[in-house]
Amino acid sequence: MAPPSMNALSPSSTPAVMLRVQSVGKRFGGLAALTDVSLDVHEGELVGLVGPNGAGKSTLFNTIAGVFAPSEGRILLGERDITGLPSHKLARLGLARTFQLVTLFSELSVLDNAAQALHRHQSGRFLSGLLQTRFYREEFARWRARALEALALLSLEALAEHPASSLPLGQAKLLAVAIALATEPRLLLLDEPAAGLSHEESARMMDLIAERVRGRCAVVLVEHNMRIVRRYCDRAVVLQFGRKIFDGVPADMVNERAVVDAYLGTGEGA
Ligand SMILES: Nc1ncnc2c1ncn2[C@@H]1O[C@H](COP(=O)(O)OP(=O)(O)O)[C@@H](O)[C@H]1O
Ligand SMILES: [Mg+2]
Repeated sequence: MAPPSMNALSPSSTPAVMLRVQSVGKRFGGLAALTDVSLDVHEGELVGLVGPNGAGKSTLFNTIAGVFAPSEGRILLGERDITGLPSHKLARLGLARTFQLVTLFSELSVLDNAAQALHRHQSGRFLSGLLQTRFYREEFARWRARALEALALLSLEALAEHPASSLPLGQAKLLAVAIALATEPRLLLLDEPAAGLSHEESARMMDLIAERVRGRCAVVLVEHNMRIVRRYCDRAVVLQFGRKIFDGVPADMVNERAVVDAYLGTGEGA
């Protein structure tokens, strides 16, 4: 975190840096998937990570989320150096993420899926088999109460008792966001939350992220559609060939020659 500013012109309420990526590089064999990428994300900020296919978005995400360690550079979560920490440790430190593919227990209700995921986040274990004891029944009731709040936040409470298998993709993806939020993360990584959704579902997902999720924690979302980032995000970061080519106000992306060139001819929604 930056030291408190002595400059009277800058307000003392400047949001703290929640994520700091410092000169991160990642190689897969001879391929440089990321080169010298630096990036700060502040408390409460919604940042869109954009770039054509193969630009390194998922690699940067996975590097932050502890799926693999960077080949170079450092990553800080708040004040803490988290470089190379595995994902289960990062979850305890307040980093939550969703995956492009949603995995649910189809025979359980929506609410029990959320409660089960919360319990697993907290203890690293599945509950099944333990529900016979009174202690775990009470414990599970607490997880359910917390899960229900998260469902309500994403307007899913009416579906709480429905089997998870009955959810259309748009709502299954909202459920994944609700579960991630219920862990009360400091940083939330959303991997293409709108991918695969219809136009209406995608707009609903992004509206809910912008209205209900933004401000609760720092959010980075991967999205290859620049229009979506321009419309919803506070800041845009553009990658191309593993390098950062833009970092700023989303509306300015289209004025940046390098960004336009990166998208020209790719047909990816520039
Ligand atoms: N696990 C991996 N092993 C080898 N190469 C990889 C791996 N993951 C990604 N890459 C390569 O790294 C580059 C960036 O990929 P990726 O981060 O998936 O891009 P994006 O998410 O922006 O489409 C691509 O050339 C891809 O083939
Ligand atoms: Mg990807």
